[in-house]
Amino acid sequence: MNQAKIIDGLAVSKALREEVARRARVLKAKGTTPGLAVILVGDDPASAVYVRNKVKACEQNGLSSNLERLPADVREAQLLARIEELNADPNIHGILVQLPLPRHINSHNVIETISASKDVDGFHVANAGSLMTGMPQFRPCTPYGVMKMLEAYQIAITGKNAVVIGRSNIVGKPMALLLLEAGATVTVCHSKTADLAYHTRNADIVVAAVGKRNILTGDMVKPCATIIDVGMNKTDEGKLCGDVDFASVSKVAGYVTPVPGGVGPMTITMLLVNTLESAERSAHPGPDDVALVHSEAVKA
Ligand code: GUN
Repeated sequence: MNQAKIIDGLAVSKALREEVARRARVLKAKGTTPGLAVILVGDDPASAVYVRNKVKACEQNGLSSNLERLPADVREAQLLARIEELNADPNIHGILVQLPLPRHINSHNVIETISASKDVDGFHVANAGSLMTGMPQFRPCTPYGVMKMLEAYQIAITGKNAVVIGRSNIVGKPMALLLLEAGATVTVCHSKTADLAYHTRNADIVVAAVGKRNILTGDMVKPCATIIDVGMNKTDEGKLCGDVDFASVSKVAGYVTPVPGGVGPMTITMLLVNTLESAERSAHPGPDDVALVHSEAVKA
């Protein structure tokens, strides 16, 4: 019986974080410590856990990071003024405002106030536009992490059929653009797609990013396909699970990412990569000075 190989996000993350830490040491020796500013507005418990993990990952890998907590009723103008200060701070190379924001704050205004050259989330329209035109500066962390996983497992993309399920600005749309840039023929499916299985059965690579359990089952998958699960959902028993029915899909697919231990660890890792590369760019301004952090091949 077929048993898909597991794409181990923890292993890929570990190798990339070691590379980040090594390059951060080199930069530090030359007088620049990569710095990330994280802003959390309000006290949403899930967001508090996410930002703590981001700050901790920075500290563990030689980046400096400060978490600023602002009250839930902070005025938008006050938040924007603080972002402007961070834009002007030479010790800060990345600025991240944790989403979602309270309803009285316009998140578009917030994202567009962050300097495009410090937008390590890759959400600013200038960075979205750069990605679209094939000259990305910051790639959004989750789709960038997926590309690094495919790279680490030497999964061919050029000429392959890829289906992205989900069309969010944070994952689905940039994911489609990165796969397109890598030479895939890309189809984006979403909640209005008439026949999802029609598309996924013809896909060599499927990325599921909708936030819905069991959106992809084994009968919808082409034999030996690569299945990437970006979903973070809860089972009825409260356990973390993805968008993919792992049990049935792993009987058909060639490669599959687990949840947890798949894409999850990669998102924070790519935030570290983006912050490091931003610091390298600011220390060595010039178009060709910064080599991208690459995934080492992982033995499957
Ligand atoms: N909230 C959930 N995911 C993210 C992310 O990747 N970046 C930010 N800024 N907020 C988020």
